[in-house]
This record gives sequence, C-alpha cells and structure tokens, in this order.
Amino acid sequence: MSNEIIANEVKRRRTFAIISHPDAGKTTLTEKLLLFGGAIQMAGTVKARKTGRFAVSDWMAVEQQRGISVTSSVMQFAYDGHVINLLDTPGHQDFSEDTYRVLTAVDAALMVIDASKGVEDQTIRLLEVCRLRNTPIITFINKLDRDARDPVDLLDEIERVLKIRCAPITWPVGMGKSFRGVFHLLRDRMHRFRPGEGHHDVAVEAVNGVDDPALDAQFPMEVGTLRKEVELVRGAMEPFDQADFLAGRQSPVFFGSAINNFGVRELLDAVVAWAPPPGPRDGGTRQVEASEPAFSGFVFKIQANMDPRHRDRIAFLRICSGRLTPDTRVTQVRTGRQFKIPHPLTFMANERTALAEAVAGDVIGIHNHGQFHIGDTLTEGEPLAFRGIPYFAPELFMRARLQDPMRAKQLNNALKELGEEGAIQVFLQTHGGLPVLGAVGQLQFEIVSHRLQAEYGVAVSFEPVGVHAARWVRAPDRKTLREFESANPARIAADVDGNPVFLAESRVILQLAGERWPKIEMRNTREHGERLHVGD
Ligand code: G4P
Repeated sequence: MSNEIIANEVKRRRTFAIISHPDAGKTTLTEKLLLFGGAIQMAGTVKARKTGRFAVSDWMAVEQQRGISVTSSVMQFAYDGHVINLLDTPGHQDFSEDTYRVLTAVDAALMVIDASKGVEDQTIRLLEVCRLRNTPIITFINKLDRDARDPVDLLDEIERVLKIRCAPITWPVGMGKSFRGVFHLLRDRMHRFRPGEGHHDVAVEAVNGVDDPALDAQFPMEVGTLRKEVELVRGAMEPFDQADFLAGRQSPVFFGSAINNFGVRELLDAVVAWAPPPGPRDGGTRQVEASEPAFSGFVFKIQANMDPRHRDRIAFLRICSGRLTPDTRVTQVRTGRQFKIPHPLTFMANERTALAEAVAGDVIGIHNHGQFHIGDTLTEGEPLAFRGIPYFAPELFMRARLQDPMRAKQLNNALKELGEEGAIQVFLQTHGGLPVLGAVGQLQFEIVSHRLQAEYGVAVSFEPVGVHAARWVRAPDRKTLREFESANPARIAADVDGNPVFLAESRVILQLAGERWPKIEMRNTREHGERLHVGD
C-alpha cells in the first residue's frame, strides 16, 4: 500500500465514543447506530451485555460468553464511504476509570442526554475528562417522545454546567405525546416523527424554510410555536462553527428519540461531516502524524476474558499512525520486545473477525497473556511514548486476605499483574505488610476477587483498611521527600511503577499534610508510564 493510499484510508476513519449518565439511552443509541452501519442484524445484542443491569454474578456470566462484551466494546462499521470505529464506554460508574481511558483513544465523543433529566452527575465527570483533551463533542438530547424539559432550558444547562457552548442543529417540535419531529436548522427541513415506526428513514418534509405555508397545513397546532422558537434560537444561539467544535468549545446539538430511531442518521452524518479524522498525537519525543507510513499505537484498555480455561486477555490498541498488517514487525517500547501480531482482532458485526490490516484511527484487539500494560506504546522501532492515559486516585481501599496463607507468593504475583494491567491499583507500603488495593468502584474488587480465583487459583476475601485517600507525591528535591517520608513512615507506599504515594487515613490528615508540607505536591491523577521523579 503506498503512503498516499494509507493517508487516504486514514482520512476515512472516524473514531468516537458514546458517553452518558446511565439510563440516558447510550445502549439504545449504540444499537441504532450499528443498525445503520449494517453492523448488526438484530437489535438486542448490545443490550444483552449492559453491565449496569446485571448483578455481579450475571455480569460475569455474560462476560464469560467470550466475545460478547469484547465485541461490543469496540465496533467498526462502514457508513457513507467512511470507516467508523465506535467505542462503548462502561455504563456502570464503578468502571469510570475504564471510561476515562477509552476517551484517550477517540477523536470525538457523542454525548447522550435524557431530555427529561438534563445534565446528570456522570455526564459532568465525563465532560471534565473530555475537556482535558479538548475532545469535540456532539450532543444528542434523547427521549423527546416522552415529556421533556424545555429545550431552551436544556441548552442553557449544558452551557452553564458543562461549560461548552451549544449550537442547535435540529430543533424539537413538541414533545411527549405531541412530539411531531424536529426542524433541521441548517437544512431548513422538517423531519416528521411518527411514533412506533422505528424505521431507518424518517419522513422529511421538503419545506422552504420555517415560513413555508406547507408547514401550516401539516402542523397547524405547532407551527406558531415552532416559528417563534426558531427565530429565538437563530437570534440567540451561536451558529455552528466547525473550528469551535473541533477545539471542544462548541457542541452541535441534535434532538431525537433513540428508541424510535429518530434523529440517529443525522448523528452519523454529523460524525462523518464534522468529526475529525485521526490527527497528530504527542509521542513523547515528537508529534506523530496519523498519515506517517510507520505504524505506532498505544494500549488503552485490557479486558480479561475471565474464562478459567484461558488466561488470555485482550489488549485494545489505538493505532496512531501508519498501517498494521500481520507482517508488521512491532516493538513494545517499554520492554524492547519485538513481535508480529498475526491475528489482530477487529470487531465487526456480532463476532470477532481476523483483520488483514488496520490503519491510524482503528482500534484493534490483541490476544495476550499479560505482556501488555495499559499505556504501552507499540511502534516499528522508534522509542515513542504516547501520553495522556490517566490513573485516578482511588476512592475505595481494601486489603486482600488469603484463605490459604501458603499462597502468598501467588497472590503477590497476581496483584502485581492485575495492578500493571490497570484492573486495580496496588500500593506497597514501605513498612511492609499486605498491599493496599485501591479502586474507583466496589465492583472492581469483586471482579478482581473473581479473577484471582479463576486465573491465579488464589482465593481471597477483602477487608477494609484504614485509608481514606491516596495522593501521588511530588517533591521539589530528595531532601524534602525524605523528610516527608520519615515524618509519615506508615503513610508512604509505592504504586506499581514505584512512584511514592501518600495514604491518608482521614480527610483531616490529608488536609494537615497539605498545610504542613506546602512544597510537596499531592496529586490525585497521574499518567500511565509517568515517573514522578524528584527534581534535584
Ligand atoms: P443507557 O445505556 O444509557 O443506560 O440507557 P439504555 O439505552 O439502556 O436506555 C435506558 C432506558 O431508556 C431503557 O428503558 C430504554 O428503552 C429507554 N430509552 C432509550 N431511548 C429512549 C427513547 O428515545 N425514548 C424512550 N421513551 N425511552 C428510551 P428501560 O425501561 O429502562 O429498559 P427496557 O426495558 O426498555 O430495556
């Protein structure tokens, strides 16, 4: 494949994630998007794995049916001459760390908001992460077929709370039982909603602007309000500006109803027309252009199969530049190891397919037995290091207690691997003792317990440990660090990469430490692969 062909292939890629507060309609919308892309034949497949709905045991059972969760974490399909990589984010907030990592692998995000609820907690948190990276956001306000909040209020709330300006592209006409459709502000067209039809194409009324008398005939009850609102919106809201969208400052907003497949095609059209193709990324030593011929990428997520017979896991890799084929000689920069990836996986339709080749923007899966870590950079030999995959300070802390004390070595080894993989955070206290485990959500402990048993043959129970918060410590010089450590011997630990961490048993302790040690920086995030070296 010539460089020019690779560059053209890259330009056709659109890689985005769907984000929302649970229940806003993310799963439903994902299914409809896949239907448009011809990627699934039957609705219900994505839904079947939705983690939030299952008790842990069910969730595991579902995950165990190999493939289901993996196929639906990353989905590739063709739409309108483009190759779309759609990344699902776990709905359950216990996996928010996973979600944040997924967001580092995409070029845009589709935010789903429930029209009756507006901006919710999880949306706020997710948007904070998007803002860190100026990720372009397309907004879909869902469930207009139900009673909804006033659309102007909703936009106002998005602007105020999420601090992103809104540019409505469609405008709803009515809501709930009297939802008639949306008026497309750019195309000057009315898209009529007919409840319950759920077919692919909505009836589009060819009208010449909002003043077209055809609208009076078709929508006599609604047309007055529609005209007033369209005038107001056009006067008061910003017009869509692609540069502002790409910079993450402005979000185009669409209204619709995912379950009725209404307003969904417009979203795909927006992704194709406006969302960016893969762009340059910070490779540590230099900017890496997506169209460069040499392959590079990074691992942003690792998924265990949780199948006791197979300890293999799937590492998800975002390709940042060039092309990957089964013949590409790949170097894992962290270890210097070289290998080929004979069977990279892509996730199309409802099954895994072996992939002949992939280019920048694509997300592929690689089978492995623990040799990949989240944050690993893979190249054709150049020592790059892609940045930006976050670790968040955990909020829950436990200790694993062995049922069979003879298996301490296995436990330590297993925790090291799970910690490196990013399934849980592991802190080794300098004064010794069992490691402190940190998680963002309770479910993470349960998954780890299951995996310890299934993959390592180690049975544990978890017990609370007196830690309230963990902060990565950065000191201006070694002397200050040593003084800080010797003043707090029982509170100092090391993370999987050997970085110093302060474990505070209460909020007060954390606050006092901050006051007493103003020169010590207490961080609640760090990047994968980042070494918090001490500046001398
Ligand atoms: P999530 O992944 O964001 O958590 O949400 P999901 O798609 O599962 O949707 C949450 C609920 O909202 C589901 O109902 C779903 O059917 C419903 N829903 C999604 N889109 C629309 C829409 O456009 N209009 C209406 N009226 N409802 C919508 P549920 O009763 O919780 O689940 P189910 O029994 O339908 O599966």
